[in-house]
Amino acid sequence: MKKILVIHGPNLQLLGARQPDIYGTADLKKINADLKKHAAECGVTLEILQSNHEGDIVERIGKAKGRCDALLINPAAYTHTSVAIRDAIEACGLPAVEVHLSNIYAREPFRHQSLIAPVCRGQVSGFGPASYRLGLDALLTLRYNKRTSKG
Ligand code: DQA
Repeated sequence: MKKILVIHGPNLQLLGARQPDIYGTADLKKINADLKKHAAECGVTLEILQSNHEGDIVERIGKAKGRCDALLINPAAYTHTSVAIRDAIEACGLPAVEVHLSNIYAREPFRHQSLIAPVCRGQVSGFGPASYRLGLDALLTLRYNKRTSKG
């Protein structure tokens, strides 16, 4: 695994200022810089997109096959609504891990369902910015390019 596509969904450009009691005080620039540093230590490079637009995210995932080896995604609010992003992940066939800063299962009931998780190899939820690093490590431990939980 050499190149990983990292996608941050809507409103994550506001991290640092947005509900710091829930999402912490690190902004997206710092989260990306820390993740890039960790990725470099692991010998992989990152392609990073933050978008507030579902179609942009769908298109980037659609172009990922052949360019990237895996997908690390925080779909943000689209986690709970987007059949289009789910289908894009499934169609591209790359191993994906879903991450969340907050523990979505400890929050409002509408956040308890992820439409994305079933097409991902797994999910990391609730560890603040560390969720991204843990998600990246999870991708790097995958040995089989199929959707099982076997690692
Ligand atoms: C989030 C959780 C989502 O429910 C929410 O809509 C977000 C951020 C998280 O990282 O905790 O925007 O994905």
